[in-house]
Amino acid sequence: MTAKGHFITFEGIDGSGKSTQARMLAEHLRGLGHDVILTREPGGSPGAEEIRALVLQGDPDRWSAETELLLFTAARRDHMERLIQPAIDKGQIVICDRFADSTRMYQGLSRGDLRGKVDMLHKLMIGREPDLTILIDMDPAQGLARAKGRQGIEERFEDFGTELQEKMRAGFLALAQEFSDRFHIIDGARAVETVAHDVQSSVQAYLSSSD
Ligand code: ADP
Ligand code: TYD
Repeated sequence: MTAKGHFITFEGIDGSGKSTQARMLAEHLRGLGHDVILTREPGGSPGAEEIRALVLQGDPDRWSAETELLLFTAARRDHMERLIQPAIDKGQIVICDRFADSTRMYQGLSRGDLRGKVDMLHKLMIGREPDLTILIDMDPAQGLARAKGRQGIEERFEDFGTELQEKMRAGFLALAQEFSDRFHIIDGARAVETVAHDVQSSVQAYLSSSD
C-alpha cells in the first residue's frame, strides 16, 4: 500500500522566514526518514518558473491585479499538475513555500477587493487546499528589513512598501481564522532555531493526527 501523501505550505509576509523554515523542516523530516519534496511558488516547475520571472521582476505597475491573478493561477496549475499532485499521489510530503493563500492576500486584497474572483478561479483551476498551513507571523518593518537585505531583482512586491505589508499581515491573520482547521500561527520574530522547533511540533502534531 502507498503511504498517504501530505501537502504542507508556508505563508506570511516577505522576509518573515518562510524559505528558511521550509528548508529546515524539509531537512528535519528527511532526517526522520520521510520522503520530502521542497518547492515554492510562484514557480516550482519549469513553466511556472518562467512565469515567476514575469510577475516578480520589473515595474510594480507592470500588470493589473486581474492579469497578475491569471498569471499566478497559470503558474500554480502547471506546478500542481506536474509536481505537487503526482508527489502527493506517490505518498510524498510536499512542502511548498507560499501557495493559494498568498494569491488570496496579494492579488485578492492588495489593490481593490478581488477575493471573490481569486476564490472562483482557485475552485475552477486548482481545486485543492493544503493539509496544513504554517503562518509565520511577524512585524512587517522587521520582515521588510530582512527581505531588503537580500538585494535581489525580484522586488516588485517588496517595492509596495510597509503599508502593504501591514495590510497583508492583518489579512493573513484573518485568513488563519477563516481556515482555522488547517492554519497554525507561529511567531517569526524569534531566533531561527526557536521558530524551527515550533514548526516541527506543529507538523508532528498534524502528522500524528492524520494517521
Ligand atoms: P521569506 O522566505 O519569508 O521571505 P527568508 O527565509 O528568505 O524569508 O528570510 C529572509 C532573511 O531573513 C534571510 O536573510 C534569512 O537568513 C533571515 N532570517 C530568516 N529567519 C530569521 C530569524 N528567525 N531571525 C533572523 N533572521 C532571519
Ligand atoms: P517569494 O519569493 O516567496 O518572496 P519572499 O521570499 O520575499 O516572501 O514571493 C515573491 C512575491 O510574490 C511575494 O512578494 C508575494 C508574491 N506572490 C503573490 O503576489 N501572489 C502569489 O500567489 C504568490 C505565490 C506570491
